[in-house]
Amino acid sequence: MDHFLYRDGVLHAEDVPLPQIAQAVGTPFYCYSTATLTRHFKLFDEALEGVDHLVCYAMKANSNQAVLKLIAGLGAGVDVVSGGEYARAKAAGFAGDKIVFSGVGKTREEMRAALEGGIRQFNLESEPEMLALNEVALSLGKIAPVTIRVNPDVDAKTHEKIATGKSENKFGIPIARAKEVYAEAAALKGLDVVGIDVHIGSQLTDLEPFAMAYRKVAELTETLRAEGHNIRRLDLGGGLGIPYERSNEAPPLPVEYGAMVKEVLGHLNCEIEIEPGRLIAGNAGILVSGVIYVKSGEGRDFLILDAAMNDLVRPAMYGAYHDIVPVIEAKAGTEQARYDIVGPVCESGDTFAKQRDMPPVGPGDLVAFRSAGAYGAVMSSEYNTRPLIPEVLVHEDQFAVIRARPTFDEIINRDTIPEWL
Ligand code: LLP
Repeated sequence: MDHFLYRDGVLHAEDVPLPQIAQAVGTPFYCYSTATLTRHFKLFDEALEGVDHLVCYAMKANSNQAVLKLIAGLGAGVDVVSGGEYARAKAAGFAGDKIVFSGVGKTREEMRAALEGGIRQFNLESEPEMLALNEVALSLGKIAPVTIRVNPDVDAKTHEKIATGKSENKFGIPIARAKEVYAEAAALKGLDVVGIDVHIGSQLTDLEPFAMAYRKVAELTETLRAEGHNIRRLDLGGGLGIPYERSNEAPPLPVEYGAMVKEVLGHLNCEIEIEPGRLIAGNAGILVSGVIYVKSGEGRDFLILDAAMNDLVRPAMYGAYHDIVPVIEAKAGTEQARYDIVGPVCESGDTFAKQRDMPPVGPGDLVAFRSAGAYGAVMSSEYNTRPLIPEVLVHEDQFAVIRARPTFDEIINRDTIPEWL
């Protein structure tokens, strides 16, 4: 459920009609709902009730400072994957002991910043990284809490670009080598090995791959404990999918995911961390765009929008589906039109949908891309010198611009011209 509903034929974000925001900030823009973000965090938090747990929001999905502050205020932890994300998390109010640091290529500089600023744990992904962190920690006179990410070689059955748990992926250490690597880690004085980490991919629409991976983690926990390691924390990653196509079967709910986690891992009495990103932010955001032209091509009509692949790259990058709906609801009985829905960028890949049936719209009308709150604004660029689009946060009947659209001058002035030119 989200909070973008038609009222009196006009799509609203909570209690705000979207045309009102469009008038204030211009199109295109991202719009997020406080109520949906809050609700989705709580669904996960409640799903793990009864076990010691921390929901660490994967901020790569949407890292606007206002979104982070909202989520931090709910008591969440956060999963960061770069020095920049770490700095954003701290700036938004996350305490160091609620920040977990993931990613295959943490630099020594990033490690140092996190150790100095406070960190819950590093999720280590390789032996060279383990040695580097040990050195950095010792040089600072600190002990770094760590888990080691294992690659369980499980097929997440998702898009190949966002599957991470197969042996051919760059992530984690092969689970078969875990015993050896944990023994090496335990011998390093700068590290405190607190647990195991796993993340097998994103937009999973079935619980079985999770369960398979978690069963392997359960087994590994027992093996490592038998070897004398004090495994007390399991980071289970993120990945639970959302319904992009409303006509399709809905993916499992957080409560079902939570029940599976308790069933597979509950007996181990470990603290559980999860790192959901998409499920918290995805359906909490939409992208609102204006129609520039409707152009008749050969055998097809192109709906040319003012949003483009630089604003929302998921369709171009993953062939992802996003529901696109008119902001003014079509009257009952209106016949559907069929469009190729495209942006103004000079690439054929700048196509949001091909031969999509939707109610007819025309120049000046507004359309909304649903499920655009995760991996939308964060993946945008200024390709074709199209300014990053504004982000707006709605709370009941109020809205605020939480990132403004830069002016052309601001964009141009970011470049510098060498004096010898
Ligand atoms: N934890 C780790 C270690 C991750 O790599 C990711 C996502 C997450 C948690 C959060 O996964 P989520 O709950 O959001 O599925 N840009 C792609 C998605 C990339 C996901 C990368 N890692 C997209 O637009 O579909």
